[in-house]
Amino acid sequence: MMMKSIVSVLAIVVAAVAQESHVVNLVNNCGQGTAVFEVAGGQQFTGASNTISGPVSGGLAWIKGAFGCGDADALNCGDVEFTLINPDTDPSNTQNAINYSLQQNGGQTHTFKYNMAFTANGCSLTPNNPGPCTGPTQDVCPGAFVGTDATDGTVFQCSAANVGLTITFC
Ligand SMILES: *[C@@H]1O[C@H](CO)[C@@H](O)[C@H](O)[C@H]1NC(C)=O
Repeated sequence: MMMKSIVSVLAIVVAAVAQESHVVNLVNNCGQGTAVFEVAGGQQFTGASNTISGPVSGGLAWIKGAFGCGDADALNCGDVEFTLINPDTDPSNTQNAINYSLQQNGGQTHTFKYNMAFTANGCSLTPNNPGPCTGPTQDVCPGAFVGTDATDGTVFQCSAANVGLTITFC
């Protein structure tokens, strides 16, 4: 009896460790549009709290249906871009990574339209927690990729399992 319950407790612990998931929360304080994020492949999520099984790659979060923003790829509007991945999932990519994008490259026109902020839940970002993005320049949008230079910003990173993200607009 004792042995059996130890075995089942172990089975639960092993299952819990093996199961990667990430909770992405969206908060829209803009009074218009819908907060949304898209993942690599194009699937979109609009819930206030979304639990994704497995890693999240190529995440893009923006406000859809307002501010002249596109319905896909965060076109025309500033976005929060993110990858959420557990440290042991892929030896070539062990970091959760988040950045603000106000880039104006071919195919990417992320113009500042609304304030944005993000919080990583479950790990501490390097080099720092940037705080909110409140305008179109790096002075007020910390670490943002701006203009056509794809290297002028900062990707905020951390390594931990099952890290979540809360993204707030306006
Ligand atoms: C911003 O983050 C996304 C998702 O992790 C990543 O694909 C993109 O390359 C980053 N942007 C830059 C300019 O590094």
